[in-house]
Amino acid sequence: MKKTKLKGRTNRLFKEFKMLAEDTTANVSAQLISDNIYHWGATMIGPLDTVYEGGVFYLDIHIPEEYPHKPPKIQFITKVYHPNINLSGHICLDILKESSWSAAQTIRTLLISIMSLLDNPNPDDPLVGSIAREYTNDRKVFNRKARQMVEDETKKQEAASKKELDNNKK
Ligand code: CO
Repeated sequence: MKKTKLKGRTNRLFKEFKMLAEDTTANVSAQLISDNIYHWGATMIGPLDTVYEGGVFYLDIHIPEEYPHKPPKIQFITKVYHPNINLSGHICLDILKESSWSAAQTIRTLLISIMSLLDNPNPDDPLVGSIAREYTNDRKVFNRKARQMVEDETKKQEAASKKELDNNKK
């Protein structure tokens, strides 16, 4: 890297990244994609005592030029059965909206908010209406489908890492 002064945004992002890497208490971690400080991958452990327990969730984060004045774009790569997350991984969460985002937020606080959304769905402001109705009216069915999706995604992840291991042996 050149000795020129890092721009404020880049500087802040490196600090944020370092803090997140050093924080082992939160069940979230992040890595840079292709060494790009504006493109992060995050890993989230499914919160205990929820239908997502036992799951590992991957997210993709793109950080805009206007950060921290504009929110990052973040979505799940792992499929999640949830009233506020659709099957393409889009997340309906207030602080992700430009009007509600604040520069006091960080990627870490955002990830923690998403974890707490997993724990506390908001069926009154749904992204997927059918899942929200099921969550409200038929919790048993919701729980079963949500757990099934965690299992299916875990199997896919295991198959993918086995394939990677096999490829490495060749
Ligand atoms: Co990406």
